[in-house]
Amino acid sequence: MGAILEINDLKKLAERRVPKMFFDYANSGAWTESTYRANEEDFAKIKLRQRVLVDITDRSLASTMIGQEVTMPVALAPTGLTGMQHADGEMLAARAAEEFGVPFTLSTMSICSIEDIASVTKKPFWFQLYVMRDRDFVLNLIDRAKAAGCSALVLTLDLQILGQRHKDLRNGLSAPPKFTPKHIYQMATRPRWCLGMLGTSRRTFRNIVGHAKGVGDLSSLSAWTNEQFDPRLSWDDVAWIKERWGGKLILKGILDKEDALMALKTGADAIIVSNHGGRQLDGAPSSISVLPEIVEAVGDRLEVHLDGGIRSGQDVLKALCLGARGTYIGRPFLYGLGALGKEGVTLALEIIRKELDITLALCGKRNIQDVGPDLLYRTVAREA
Ligand code: FNR
Repeated sequence: MGAILEINDLKKLAERRVPKMFFDYANSGAWTESTYRANEEDFAKIKLRQRVLVDITDRSLASTMIGQEVTMPVALAPTGLTGMQHADGEMLAARAAEEFGVPFTLSTMSICSIEDIASVTKKPFWFQLYVMRDRDFVLNLIDRAKAAGCSALVLTLDLQILGQRHKDLRNGLSAPPKFTPKHIYQMATRPRWCLGMLGTSRRTFRNIVGHAKGVGDLSSLSAWTNEQFDPRLSWDDVAWIKERWGGKLILKGILDKEDALMALKTGADAIIVSNHGGRQLDGAPSSISVLPEIVEAVGDRLEVHLDGGIRSGQDVLKALCLGARGTYIGRPFLYGLGALGKEGVTLALEIIRKELDITLALCGKRNIQDVGPDLLYRTVAREA
């Protein structure tokens, strides 16, 4: 493996180190993957304005997301099964993010628990909530997140049912993973990954196992998960959760301006313009293409964040220019984790920081908080 200079280099290394079914789980979208691809491709269509002979010394990437200081406006997105990309994946990623000074968001569907993350970090992290049908379990998760000192709740709205994930189905991936001879072969060809996993068998879906009714062990988890996503989830539930949580609330999975206006009414602190990384509604537009109309609809009445398709610091800058206050990366940090563990997550963040800083400078700007649409040649229009 040559030098690691960009996120794609981490992706290639992760592919060599992570068993196929888990690498594919990260590196795929729903059905034909058209939305997954559009997320990345639409960023490339936006062109930046080069400026010269502007004083670009003393640049700053520091900003805030929901009032919290960040060294750059790039948080780690919540991702399920992160501990299958690398042993103790969530704990390693949380520590890397903490040291770097950006938020880490733990998924409900993580391998490590809320308490595991609290035990290895000093600063507050964010917790992502899926609203399951079992509302007692949801309340228990909210209480545990509060007890762990989480400083924001990220409530995911776009997974009332699971999208059609054909790669996972073809790979026979389930939660918990079943181990057929094919899977065992895939793992056996990744000895470094296997060695890492040896010491971590206790830490599996620890937000759920032992906490949800009827899920005392891993064997009962699969049936529980399949029936627990809630097709009746409503805006009233969002209001109920907001009240029970009482802290900073971020609504994730908004792609439509009507929904953005509904989100605004809830009094949430921020929304994340997101299509779940192209993993839910295949055929939906890219996140970046709908960002301008959503920003226009809500104005500055709440923070607008964006995820989906960010693979470089340039992409971060483009999202900020189009009105996002903050951004999130999912796969880029997962590739780093799968490739090199904690150092890989740090490297992913460093790569993005360097690209963001150099791009900012070459566009003639010194402060990340001072960018706008004037830095772009044209914005990507959503196709009608
Ligand atoms: C996700 N995402 C996600 N979102 C969420 O709210 N809860 C979750 O448990 C998961 N799980 C998950 C697993 C994997 C492997 C991926 C890749 C993504 C979606 C995630 O938070 C985010 O919206 C996307 O990852 C953003 O797109 P990029 O950065 O991966 O292109």
